[in-house]
Amino acid sequence: MPGGTDSNFRAWGDDTVYVDRGQGGRVWDIDGNEYIDLRLGYGPVILGHGDARVDDHVNERMRRGVSFSLTSEDEVEAMELIKQMTGWVGKARMTVSGTEATMHAMRVARGYTGRNKIVKFEGQYHGVHDYALISVTPNDMSELGDEDNPVALAWGRGIPEAVSRTVIPARFNRVDVLRRIFERDGHDIAAVIVEPILGNAQAILPREGFHEEMRALTREFGALLIFDEVKTGFRIARGGAAEYFGVTPDLVTYAKAIGNGYPAACFAGTDEVMSVLPDKVSHGGTYAGNRVAAAAVVATLKILRDTDALASIHQVGRALQAGLAEVISERGLPYVFTGHPAMFGIMFTETAPNEYRDWANSDHDLYDAVAMGMHARGAMPEPDSREPWFICEAHAREDIVDRVVSIFADSLDAALESRAAGANDHHFLGMGTGEHVAATPTS
Ligand SMILES: Cc1ncc(COP(=O)(O)O)c(C=O)c1O
Repeated sequence: MPGGTDSNFRAWGDDTVYVDRGQGGRVWDIDGNEYIDLRLGYGPVILGHGDARVDDHVNERMRRGVSFSLTSEDEVEAMELIKQMTGWVGKARMTVSGTEATMHAMRVARGYTGRNKIVKFEGQYHGVHDYALISVTPNDMSELGDEDNPVALAWGRGIPEAVSRTVIPARFNRVDVLRRIFERDGHDIAAVIVEPILGNAQAILPREGFHEEMRALTREFGALLIFDEVKTGFRIARGGAAEYFGVTPDLVTYAKAIGNGYPAACFAGTDEVMSVLPDKVSHGGTYAGNRVAAAAVVATLKILRDTDALASIHQVGRALQAGLAEVISERGLPYVFTGHPAMFGIMFTETAPNEYRDWANSDHDLYDAVAMGMHARGAMPEPDSREPWFICEAHAREDIVDRVVSIFADSLDAALESRAAGANDHHFLGMGTGEHVAATPTS
């Protein structure tokens, strides 16, 4: 495997972790080291690893056969739960990954509007298809181009410039930049796709009114609004970010938390917009709606609907933030928590970030050093500071807060000591390394 892994995002050089198993809120690597898992597979494990309520249901259903490329009751029930819990979705279709879900949502938007271009925000990650890998995570912010007219920056080679040019990068929390983009290209903009909380860039929050203004602007120019809720969906609220922020998009993508780690995802929208399927827009997939994924969705969403799992998760997140805040304040460091207690980031900085470019102003080297120190001490947050910490329901049962806070404190002290001694911070390889290819600016 290139980099020794099946995904570039797990290839951490000498720090690469090879996992043996997970249970509840913990994982063990192949050397037997135990970690409190704060990555949770980049967010999907909402209840805990190996949750018997989900696994038993999946096991029972999968014995009836897994793949038919025919429609099963499990899929119908899964998509009915999505409708019921969101309250606004009219129709939904399953995919296997979040990548496919955003790819299809973008295509539906283009098919419905008859327009070609998609606006996305710098720093946002919508998966690994060509239309998504634009202006995602460069370390060097100057590569993103002029602040008022950002360039489409492809993450790596192999993405045709013709594709890059159909994606217009915008800046999160900057409606003025968005308006300029619409005034210039509005006639050909099919949709704005947004992670309602910038989940892949330190979980940066929208400023008050941002989503409402974006909703109004897209309507004004006849474009659609796509919420990419792959991370926020069924995590920050039962009805995801749409419920949390009180703004209803036209299309939405869900994955991760809907299946507690099983490879389940979907794209969904209003009846009106989704009416381009099945006749006018292509969508299919051998594994779309496969029984394992659909059964996992049914079991997971019923638990999230019928129990106080989310409330417990949010409570653990808040308690953890309180403990961490005390540790950081005692050491006199500036810090800001970003995101929601169920998925939050820690930035060593004076000012709350508004957009991806602000990451550069935080002391992310210190964060990296602390995160790697935590790995050595038995807790595993994502070592790249752009990715939030995730909480699952099992963390509440396992009462992890004090242990994580004490591991964090020891790791922070060690990082500060080694910095004071002039040693280099432990640099994490980082997602923003590697080649980025700029499309020629359009204007
Ligand atoms: C917001 C968002 N969209 C899309 C994706 C892509 O999902 P997947 O990795 O399942 O393809 C991710 C994955 O992290 C994500 O966080």
